[in-house]
Parts: sequence; C-alpha cells; structure tokens
Amino acid sequence: MTGENPNNPEVTGSERVRDTLGRPLQDLRISLLDRCNFRCPYCMPEAQFTEDYQFLTKSARLSHDEILRIASIAVRQGVSKLRITGGEPLLDKKVTGLVARLRDLPGVEDLALTTNGVLLAPVAAGLAAAGLQRVTISLDSVDEKIFAAMSGNRGHINKVLEGITAADRAGLSPIKINVVVQRGVNDHTLLDTLAHFRGTGHIVRFIEFMDVGSRNGWSMEQVVPSKDVLEQVNARWPVRAVNRNYPGEVASRYEYLDGEGELGFISSVTDPFCGNCSRARLSADGTLYTCLFATEGTDLRGPMRAGASDDEIAGIINAVWLNRSDRYSEVRKPEQDEKPLLNKIEMYRMGG
Ligand code: GTP
Ligand code: 5AD
Ligand code: SF4
Ligand code: SF4
Repeated sequence: MTGENPNNPEVTGSERVRDTLGRPLQDLRISLLDRCNFRCPYCMPEAQFTEDYQFLTKSARLSHDEILRIASIAVRQGVSKLRITGGEPLLDKKVTGLVARLRDLPGVEDLALTTNGVLLAPVAAGLAAAGLQRVTISLDSVDEKIFAAMSGNRGHINKVLEGITAADRAGLSPIKINVVVQRGVNDHTLLDTLAHFRGTGHIVRFIEFMDVGSRNGWSMEQVVPSKDVLEQVNARWPVRAVNRNYPGEVASRYEYLDGEGELGFISSVTDPFCGNCSRARLSADGTLYTCLFATEGTDLRGPMRAGASDDEIAGIINAVWLNRSDRYSEVRKPEQDEKPLLNKIEMYRMGG
C-alpha cells in the first residue's frame, strides 16, 4: 500500500502528501448522504432524529459527478483506497452507477462500502458486477430483540442476514461484520454473535463505543475495553494475534486456533491508532474532514461550484493534509470523559 501505485506510477509511497506527523493520505471515505433508515441510539438517537428532522437537501449534497471529480483528484494525489459510507449509502438508488465510475479511476486498489445491510440483498450482485470489491456490514447482535433495539427498532435482523448471504454469493468478500459494543446493551451477546459467524469466512470486529459527535450520550462507563472482550473470547475459543494487513489498519486482528476464521477489535478508546491514520473523509455536503472527531472541516463544494479547476481543488486538499496534526484519540484527556466536547461533527454526517 505504501509502495508505488501500479496504476498511477508517478505517485509513489514516498511522494504521497504527508501531514505534519509524516502520515500519508491514503484512504478517502465518501459519505453519499446523511440520511439513514436506522436510528441506532449510539449514532442517531431517534428522540433527536425525528421523522421531520432536516437532513441535507439534494442540492446541498454533492452530485455523483462532483463526488467522482473529488475522488479522481484525490486518487491522482495518491489515494488508493475508497470507501463509500453514509448515513446509509444504499438509500442512494444510483449507488451502483457511482461504484462503476469510481472503479474506473486508475489507481484505485480497494473499493469498499459500509452499510447496515437491510437493503443489500437485492443490490449485492449488481454492486459486485459494477466493481465493488467488498462490503462491511453493521450488525450489533444476533439476538433479534437486542438487534432491533440497537437499530432504533427500524431493522429486522433477517433482512441483514439475507444481505450478508447475498453479498457472500456475489463475492463481496472478505465480509466484515461491525459490532459496536455497549456495556449493558449487547455485551452479553458477543460470543453468540461470534458463534454465528465462526467458520463462515466473515470477520466479526468489535468496536469500542466511541465519543464521536455529541448527541449519543456517550460515557466511559458504557465502554467495554477490547481486552475484556478478548479475554471472554479466549476462554471460549482460544485465539492468537495476527499481523495487520496494512499499515494504518484500524482493527487488530486475531484468528481462532481451531482454524475457524478471523475476528478483530477496533479499540479507539483504550488503544488508539492515530499514529498511522491515513484517512480523509468527504461528507455528503462536500466538506473534507481529517479526523473522525473533528469539530470543523474544509469546504470543497463551494470552490467546486464556483468554478475552481482540478489543480485548485488538488491544492486545497494538499494544503489541508500538509497542515494536519489530528490525533484526537491519543491525546484525549480524562476530563473529556466527564465533559465531552460539544461541537464535534456527528458520525452520520461525516461518514463512519
Ligand atoms: P478495512 O479497510 O476493512 O480495514 O476497513 P475499516 O476498518 O477502515 O473500515 P470500517 O468502515 O469497517 O471501519 C470500522 C470502524 O472503525 C468505523 O466505522 C469506525 O467506527 C472505526 N474507525 C474507522 N476509521 C477510524 C479512524 O480513523 N479513527 C477512529 N477513531 N475510528 C475509526
Ligand atoms: N461508536 C462506535 N462505532 C460507531 N459506529 C457508529 N457510531 C459509533 C459509535 N458512537 C459504527 C457503526 C458502523 C460504523 C460505520 O461505525 O456501527 O459499523
Ligand atoms: Fe445508520 Fe449506521 Fe448511524 Fe446506525 S450507525 S444510524 S445504521 S448511519
Ligand atoms: Fe485518525 Fe482522528 Fe481516529 Fe486518530 S482519532 S485514528 S487521527 S480519525
């Protein structure tokens, strides 16, 4: 990943734009829209995100042409990984067309999508045919009732499981299953979730509940440290650590000693991984963010709609990255656990 880009030989690992801490710009996460058909309490609590909540209007959102333009500029600057996110990206009925166009950009080595999976089954084969390589699906518990509660009573687990089956058939693998772990909510079902997916080739990843945004009522008491979950897992099915697939991978990987597959932990709270963070995020309204916990970003939509050239937009992206010094999770202070920052951008807005 950090070596020469085979499709874009003029951009080498050492030439990629690097931030003030030497981290290259490697991944772009693109949020297609801020809407979602779920109301996961840790992301979009339904009391605040009611039916009449004002999400971005169509004209405020980037068009696919605009997304493609920014992605192609970023790829020319060395970005080699693209991930489509939301909100829920499959609410965009034309997402397959966008995938096909992103796929055609020379230099894209990895094209993935993160979804809650409910709308995935009917479109999985089309997405794969368009060139999507893999999907990551959020599924917080295999317990039907807990799953329902953690989706804000919007999703039925069977639909998500059908989506996973369809994605598997379509070859959108490795399929990763994201489980946000919340103490007292789903932490007693984690081994059941693992049991369900052991031996299928799908990779369950436990994510520590994060203080992202400011509306989810986060508190440290609700975080189950990954090391505690690992202990539980090890007692039932012994595992061993395996190396990261690439520098900057957020999950630490483990495999079952009995050969039944892989699992992972994303431990942003107790074991931050800012040191290798190579991700930029493009929100649906065209703002570029350089940290998941950012309080502000840089507008690309305005300059683009005012007629900026590709070189000018590339210059803005370059300058943003060159000046970047984010390491929120590494420098968060204990007092923030008591009194979280209030003006952080919400995750559904920025893109997970
Ligand atoms: P892979 O390419 O499969 O390694 O994907 P990924 O793990 O980067 O992507 P995914 O969307 O599955 O990310 C999983 C989750 O990890 C995200 O939804 C976030 O909850 C968390 N995460 C991803 N990137 C960051 C990051 O830069 N900082 C923090 N704190 N958390 C992140
Ligand atoms: N903490 C941890 N993970 C979260 N996600 C959304 N909000 C949070 C949070 N507060 C996860 C979703 C999805 C991914 C995009 O981010 O479950 O898998
Ligand atoms: Fe929707 Fe994902 Fe947020 Fe849940 S975590 S409300 S599925 S965007
Ligand atoms: Fe990157 Fe910010 Fe997450 Fe650290 S906290 S890994 S800098 S996105």
